[in-house]
Formats: sequence, C-alpha cells, structure tokens
Amino acid sequence: MVLLGDAAHTAHFSIGSGTKLAVEDALALAEAVAAHPEVPEALAAYEAARRPAVASTQRAAAASMRWFEEIGGYVGQPARQFAFNLLTRSRRVTHENLRLRDPRFTRAVEADFGCPQEGPDGPATPPMFTPFTLRGLTLRNRVVVSPMDMYSAEEGVPGDFHLVHLGGRALGGAGLVMTEMVCVSAEGRITPGCAGLWTAEQAAAWKRIADFVHTSAPGTALGVQLGHSGRKGSTRLMWEGMDEPLPEGNWPLVAASALPYKPGVSAVPRALESADLAAIRSEFAAAAARAADCGFDLLELHCAHGYLLSGFLSPLTNRREDAYGGSLENRLRFPLEVFDAVREVWPAERPMTVRLSATDWAPGGTTPQEAERIAAAFAAHGADAVDVSTGQVVSDEAPEYGRSYQTPYADRIRNALGIPVIAVGAISSWDDVNSLLLAGRADLCALGRPHLYDPHWTLHAAADQGYAGPGAPWPAPYRAGSRKPPTGKG
Ligand SMILES: Cc1cc2nc3c(=O)[nH]c(=O)nc-3n(C[C@H](O)[C@H](O)[C@H](O)COP(=O)(O)O)c2cc1C
Repeated sequence: MVLLGDAAHTAHFSIGSGTKLAVEDALALAEAVAAHPEVPEALAAYEAARRPAVASTQRAAAASMRWFEEIGGYVGQPARQFAFNLLTRSRRVTHENLRLRDPRFTRAVEADFGCPQEGPDGPATPPMFTPFTLRGLTLRNRVVVSPMDMYSAEEGVPGDFHLVHLGGRALGGAGLVMTEMVCVSAEGRITPGCAGLWTAEQAAAWKRIADFVHTSAPGTALGVQLGHSGRKGSTRLMWEGMDEPLPEGNWPLVAASALPYKPGVSAVPRALESADLAAIRSEFAAAAARAADCGFDLLELHCAHGYLLSGFLSPLTNRREDAYGGSLENRLRFPLEVFDAVREVWPAERPMTVRLSATDWAPGGTTPQEAERIAAAFAAHGADAVDVSTGQVVSDEAPEYGRSYQTPYADRIRNALGIPVIAVGAISSWDDVNSLLLAGRADLCALGRPHLYDPHWTLHAAADQGYAGPGAPWPAPYRAGSRKPPTGKG
C-alpha cells in the first residue's frame, strides 16, 4: 500500500494544492515502478522524487497561510496592488508569470506603481529600475549590494581588494552599493581582516574607493555600514572558521551582558559599564564624521546579527539590570543613543538606515511585534529606512531558510508602520525583486551572494528584461557588451 496526496502529506488549503499533489504523486509512483522492477527500490525512488517537491509546496502553502494571517497589514493597500499581492503571496506566482496570464492587469499594476511605459502597448520600465528617494539621495534603481565582509583588510585599512571589489560592483549597475561592516574601533572588529574607520589612514583608503565610485560609476550611491562586533569579535577569518575564536592574539570582548556567543567555545565578554557606553558612542560618532568626509552617500547602523548594538536589543543577549536592560524601551536606549550621536554628525541631507534582526529564530528572542516597535523607534529618531535581516543573534537559532525567507519580516514593518524597508535574504532573481516591489512588500531589495556570483547582476537583469533606460546605464567602456553575445560557434 502506498500513500499518495493528502493521505501522505498536507499543505495549507489556501493554495489549493491537494489534487495537484496527489496526481503528481501518482505520476511519480508510476514512473518509479516502471523504472525499478524491485518494489523497495521503486518506493525509495518515489520517495526521493517527491519529498523535495512536496516540501517546496508546503513552504509555499506556509507562506500563503502567513499572508492570510497578516492580512490586516495589507488592507490599506490600493485595490490593484492588494490583488497583485494576494496573487503573488506564496511566491510561486511572480510578476513574470502574471504578465503571461493577464498582461492587462499586470500593466495596470505597473502603471499604478509609476513604471514609465513606452506608449500604450510598448514595454513598461520594470519596477526594479524605477528610482527611489531617501532624504536627499535619489537611487536610480531598487537594487542594493548587501553589506558583505570581505575579511581582507590589514589593520582595518581597506586595500586594492576592496577598491576592485566595491568598484566592480559599483560598475555593475546596482543603485546602492554597501560596504561591509566597517568597525568603529580595533576591539570592535569581528576578525583581524575586518575594515575600520578609526584612523586617518583608514579614512584615506575609504575616500579613494568612494572617489573611484563617484568618478567612474557616476549615479551609483555608496553606503557605509558602521558597526561594532561586541561579543562576536576576536574570531577567525570566515574561511578559517566562522565565529571560532582566534588561536592567538585575541582581544578582550565587550557586550551588553557577560554571555558568550557559543557557550564553551567563545570567549566571555565583559559587560559594559556606563562610562564605557559613552566612549563607544563617541567612537561611532567619530567614525561617522570620517565617513562623511570620505564622501559616502548613506550610512547604515548595524544593529543586527548579534553584534554589539543588536546584543542590546535582544532579550536573549541583554540581561542588564540597569537603565539599558529589561524592558524593550531600556534595551533600545543604547542603540538609540548611538543612532542619535551618529545622526548628529552625519550630514542632514544624507540618509541613514538601520539593519535589524527582526527575529532571533529562538524561543524568548525578539518577536515580530517587538521588531516593529524597534523599527518604529529608529524611524522616530530619523532613520530613513530599515534594512530587515534576521537571526545570527544566538548560536542555537533555528532559522526557516527558503526563497526570500526574510521578506515577510520586512513586509510587516513596511505595511504596519509605513516605513521604507530594504528586504534581503535569498532574493536571487530579478523576477522576485519586481514581484516584491509591485506587491508593496519592499522598497529596495538587497542581494548579497548573487553579487559575489555576478558583480554585474543588475546590468544583466536589465539586459534579460530588454531594458536599456536610465535605471541601469551600462558604463560607457562596457556598452559594446550590453547585449548578450551571440551564441553558437565560429
Ligand atoms: C561573505 C558575506 C559577508 C557578509 N558580511 C556582512 C556584513 O558585513 N554586514 C551585514 O550586515 N551582513 C553581512 N552579510 C549578510 C548579507 O548582507 C546578507 O544579508 C545575506 O548574505 C543574505 O542575503 P543573500 O541571500 O542575498 O546573500 C554577509 C554575507 C556574506 C555572504
């Protein structure tokens, strides 16, 4: 006896997949039995073929279920955007799919979004290539190169590697290129290879990179992410053992509370005292002032991933009994003080964003409701957008990875509070970017690993979509390559 369809596995009914799963199971079973004369092998082949496909459908169903659970956040959307959001809720139907199914509807949603159209029937500008303004900065498109530590600096000084890496990505078309987490002090580094902004030499090296971007990739904004490693500092380079303590040359760690990141493995940090807090606040402000002189266009405060400021926000890592611990209001106090100190020296017309871990993926950690309150607090202090990541706060986390798995958290903050958000995490296709934007789930989309795979990710997305407008201009020296090279031999 072999179980098929709903008898073997179920998915939430809101995607209506029951009959489809059962028929696909039956087809796979017939195929497996035909290919394997022995029953045990046939059943194993059936199981191997169907398990990942069913898991994928169940993830889609779970996304759909959550969408309905959180429908309250969407009811204020304009009717057509709401309809598009509903249709794309499971992330299986996308902007491109929908264009095939109903081009008139899709075009109307694009027009509502503000995508310029070439005549009544001509192609519309893809949503990802529409501009977006944060304070005095207008980004030419909605793609962000997510901050990625390269662990390749020496004494905190970014070198030729960083110039080529960031310069290359800046030539690749994204509207905003973020630096890696730039540390505000030597003790605030994660590893000996982390870059910093606590010396004039470091500032000069960053200025060289910013000058290159502004001169050779005009129109690309360059953002700096400022942070302090907190209890996750003094570890090996990523490829030598992520979050593993250095074998030698360790520096003392500081954090909200004296709790190690990996019990029994990581060093125990010293809990910061009030006098230390003032000094660290000044380090952030000094680094921000240097960043302003370097010419960065945007500054992001890193309050995610369990580093120092994130460590204050999460109830799992902040066990303080003073005014900086306990209630959420208290846990927010130090990160907000740092934000204010940075905002004060950061030029008024230049935007600031904050990166948050919207969930710790662990019991007792930051809840989505708290993440909303945290986002609202930073917005009230002048944050122009929230960059919504998750996790990496505690080592015993249990994240639910999957396609664009963090976007529901960004979406929630955007739609509950009306604050612009940057969505990030396993967003890998331009179709996903367009879909998230049109559905009103994100204002900007940050892509990390896809930009390691392809520095010209945005230019290639434009070429794939037949777009050649101002949202993704090819650098003049590269224009000859702006069409896909002919395939074939000879
Ligand atoms: C090599 C590498 C280094 C990273 N360094 C940082 C960092 O310095 N600051 C940060 O906020 N996130 C960092 N991240 C996380 C990325 O910004 C991004 O959130 C994550 O990779 C998920 O996006 P993706 O699926 O598009 O890669 C890093 C990711 C990678 C792969």
